[in-house]
Amino acid sequence: MALRSVLTGVGSHLPQRILTNAELAKRVDTSDEWIVERTGIRQRHIAADGERTSDLACGAGVQALQSAGRDAKDIDLIIVATTTPDLTFPATAARVQAELGVVNGAAFDLQAVCSGFIFALATADNFLARGQAKAALVIGAETFSRIMDWEDRGTCVLFGDGAGAVVLEAREERSDRGVISTFLRTDGRMHDLLYVDGGPSQTQSVGKVRMIGNAVFRQAVEHISGAMLEACARAGVALDEVDWFVPHQANQRILDGVARKLGIDVDKVVSTVALHGNTSAASVPLALDVASRDGRIKKGDLVLMEALGGGLTWGAALVRM
Ligand code: UT7
Repeated sequence: MALRSVLTGVGSHLPQRILTNAELAKRVDTSDEWIVERTGIRQRHIAADGERTSDLACGAGVQALQSAGRDAKDIDLIIVATTTPDLTFPATAARVQAELGVVNGAAFDLQAVCSGFIFALATADNFLARGQAKAALVIGAETFSRIMDWEDRGTCVLFGDGAGAVVLEAREERSDRGVISTFLRTDGRMHDLLYVDGGPSQTQSVGKVRMIGNAVFRQAVEHISGAMLEACARAGVALDEVDWFVPHQANQRILDGVARKLGIDVDKVVSTVALHGNTSAASVPLALDVASRDGRIKKGDLVLMEALGGGLTWGAALVRM
């Protein structure tokens, strides 16, 4: 029987400090009204001084392990999707592996910006389906506050810090639980719509986020919708069979635009953007965790996750919980 990657646990972790729109309005020329109307964001969490991406990743990882009823010895693959690693190298995943006490298998980072979690989930699914690992911890973790230009009102109001994680286990599953289909795309021609103006090779610095927001917005609605339809088509599933949509949380208007375009009931769309802002690779697993813990997403539910980010990258993953 073919191996399936079954999602057995989910967790998340947010830094304590909350930054409100009102506080931001004291720093840059913006207002709570503008931010809420144009993005739906009301607040975001910001990592404390010295709090690293790996710290957030470990918090989410521990919760996901608990929720799966697993411990460190069971895990033999860790993938951390992040654009804000602790250091240029080693991988943040290496520190996470050591901190969690995992001693088996490989641990590496994956860089697909806001689509990172979807890319990491698809990557882990391939490892598990090929029998190359038994249980994976897939984490999206970011400290985007570290790469914001706090003088640029077009970007600094959008992002926040956090982490989310899932445990995926290879099983000869008789039911249809598990990762059913994934779809990933990159179009490097749109590299300059959303990028960081620094890096080891080009500038020998870390750099700050730069974005042509309205151009990314247009690409987002189109490509996210396309990815969702493609993931469903690959699985032979109709969109109206999906119980929950767990999108990347960039902007409430993108969530609404995609729902309108595809005729999706907005009550089936999990939205955490108001409270978390855009946490990049962390946003999908964070939202998945919120909706699992509050009892909306249950075992057996069909969940469609999707994201778009720098690269541009985009993708979707269909999972039976
Ligand atoms: O996670 C990766 C994917 N990222 C995204 O999907 C983000 C996609 N983009 C967006 O969410 C939206 O484009 C933004 C929220 C970034 C911007 O909203 P918009 O409705 O596209 O606004 P805009 O960029 O077209 O700007 C409209 C106006 C401009 O002023 P003028 O030139 O019309 O006078 C901006 O300068 O809004 C101004 N503006 C602001 N005003 C108050 C931009 N940011 C702000 C701000 N406060 N924070």
